[in-house]
Amino acid sequence: MNVSVIGLGYIGLPTAIALAMNGSKVKGFDVSEDVVKKLNRGQIHIVEAGLQPLFEQVLKNGMFQAFDTLQESDVYIISVPTPFKNDEKIADLSYVEQAARSVAAILKEGDLVILESTVPPTTTRTMTDILEQESGLARDRFYTAHCPERVMPGNIMYEMQNNDRIIGAEREESALKSKALYETFLRKGNIFLTDDVMAELCKLVENSYRDVNIAFANELSMICSKLRIDTKELIQLANRHPRVNILSPGVGVGGHCLAVDPYFIVERFPKEAQLIHAARTVNTFKPHFLAEKIACKLGETKERPVTILGMSYKPDIDDFRESPSVVLAKALQDRGYLVRGCDPNIKEDIVEGIPMVSLEQVLSGPDFLVLAQKHKEFMDRRQELEAADCLCV
Ligand SMILES: NC(=O)c1ccc[n+]([C@@H]2O[C@H](COP(=O)([O-])OP(=O)(O)OC[C@H]3O[C@@H](n4cnc5c(N)ncnc54)[C@H](O)[C@@H]3O)[C@@H](O)[C@H]2O)c1
Repeated sequence: MNVSVIGLGYIGLPTAIALAMNGSKVKGFDVSEDVVKKLNRGQIHIVEAGLQPLFEQVLKNGMFQAFDTLQESDVYIISVPTPFKNDEKIADLSYVEQAARSVAAILKEGDLVILESTVPPTTTRTMTDILEQESGLARDRFYTAHCPERVMPGNIMYEMQNNDRIIGAEREESALKSKALYETFLRKGNIFLTDDVMAELCKLVENSYRDVNIAFANELSMICSKLRIDTKELIQLANRHPRVNILSPGVGVGGHCLAVDPYFIVERFPKEAQLIHAARTVNTFKPHFLAEKIACKLGETKERPVTILGMSYKPDIDDFRESPSVVLAKALQDRGYLVRGCDPNIKEDIVEGIPMVSLEQVLSGPDFLVLAQKHKEFMDRRQELEAADCLCV
């Protein structure tokens, strides 16, 4: 099978590798020249444990190659970004539309186009409309499906091959064709077929469910902070109830999925999605609450550096999109504190005026520490952190 993967980021690249490892000839396409050059030089451009050696394997045996133009194939997988439109909390579908147009220009009868990007309900049908209008082929002459991705960064290759998958399509033949493709690399996971709108909403609901549950824990942590009681103990005690399972609070909720996807439901159903919207409000507020808490602790002493340990949005990755640690750092900076960032996976300065420093530097310095993400490198030195003046979020 010849497969073109469009967008070689956190989702597209591992998908391309998984397919290439299992018999598909994969031609990756990315609009970023830097990404294409780096990949063809043999180096992956994302931090993901265990991915580099697998990538080297498929590059070396000729099953994968990266291109800066879309190559003709039998299957096209679109895994481009779906961020917010400007500052509005609505989906910017321009990347998906652009990718669909580039496929339409070379689409042949019988080709399969799979949308993997996370999208608001009915976007797959809009993609099919674009393909139909711009290729001149009637929609029953080619196949389209939505196959959302559920992997967790940090464990992508394992989850990609072992998680259950939902595949949705307007026509059953399209869903079955997609299923056959994913079955080439799926190990333990099962595939469940449905229609495209159901698959789109299912993906959004999964992340909204997580966001709502984390919001509950975050809300409790703020109440406990006001009562000066330990949140961890409260949650442990409450979880002794046989039907209660409260999650752990954190600095907030970040990343390109949980902090974004719930809004794709809210944008379509603003009146109905009250709880989903409220959870976003709670999780967005949490880093601001922490900034206030830290400011109360430090008072007017603004010369002492405050260092945020962990600038990514979750442990052991380099992704800082929508990271609540960044929000916390900026909120403290706005209050006049001298803020620094420390992250073993992020070397360059990611926020203007907030320099990145090494753990060695901060452990031997006068800094007030905020352990925002439990990166392995920090946990390995937990005792030293406990001995230092450190707020464990
Ligand atoms: N990262 C995750 O953990 C995750 C998990 C599940 C779903 N998703 C969804 O998958 C989609 C992709 O996310 P990602 O994290 O891989 O994004 P990413 O930013 O890491 O990668 C996207 C890539 O697409 C390229 N690109 C943009 N427009 C293009 C176009 N028209 N043609 C070709 N290439 C193009 C970019 O240059 C970039 O390299 C998003 O919709 C996201 O919500 C992501």
